[in-house]
Amino acid sequence: VSLVGAGPGDPDLLTVRAHDRLRAATLVLHDGLVPEAVVDVARSAERVSVARRAGPKTLSQDVVIDLMVDAAWRGERVVRLKGGDPFVFGRGGEEMQGLSAAGVPFEVVPGLSSALAAPALAGIPVTHRGAASGFVVLSGHAPEAYAPLLGTITPRSVTVVVLMGIGERRAIARCLLEAGWPGETPAAIVVNASRPRQRVWVGRVNTLGINDDFGARDDPGVIVVGDVVACASAADILRAGMGEEQIWQPTTIQGH
Ligand SMILES: C[S@@+](CC[C@H](N)C(=O)[O-])C[C@H]1O[C@@H](n2cnc3c(N)ncnc32)[C@H](O)[C@@H]1O
Repeated sequence: VSLVGAGPGDPDLLTVRAHDRLRAATLVLHDGLVPEAVVDVARSAERVSVARRAGPKTLSQDVVIDLMVDAAWRGERVVRLKGGDPFVFGRGGEEMQGLSAAGVPFEVVPGLSSALAAPALAGIPVTHRGAASGFVVLSGHAPEAYAPLLGTITPRSVTVVVLMGIGERRAIARCLLEAGWPGETPAAIVVNASRPRQRVWVGRVNTLGINDDFGARDDPGVIVVGDVVACASAADILRAGMGEEQIWQPTTIQGH
């Protein structure tokens, strides 16, 4: 079994190894966030969606592990395909432990995480001399996930990258303000990074969640907070060939 990171969505951003494993696979178990164009690389494999958000058809983690274990013992070449990197909020660790407990040989093929790819594709360096010498990646799906961690970070000391936080972005902004981050700290949202409908909003912590019409709720998005956002020459980089993207409030940031 190969636990493979699919990157942020554009098949061009698969690693060479991920591409090879998909080509050689006979069975691909993929998450809902992985676009069809990536799954299609596995030309000769049976493909099964094991999306956790598939409503009544949702498969539990144990069932996914059992599927992998059974297929491996049948002699299939299994690829467990996950968006971004398998070990960044992807439950790859649990699946690795499940395979290990079942005695199934496996490998991990790292992928390009949206935590890095989304800012990069929007022209935002997560570290930048004079602006941030480090970055923190956290889950924004619920206050229990982000509030305790945000409370420990010295305001403006690092870049904060939030995954799964679009629905909570206003609460996240409030949390940052309460922790002492200045309201004018630059902030960005990058939705559908590397995909045809990539969009970037650039603003400030005190406008996050207020006038950042981010589009369809199901679109995956990353929030970036910190002075590095002001480095983004978003207009230039996005005009350089992504097609349908939109830039919201591209002129909000002035100087830095
Ligand atoms: C369950 S997490 C999985 C993260 C994944 N393992 C990774 O390393 O990118 C899903 C979250 O990743 C982020 N995400 C994944 N793909 C994205 C993309 N193409 N553009 C923006 N955000 C993305 C969103 O925050 C989404 O809610």
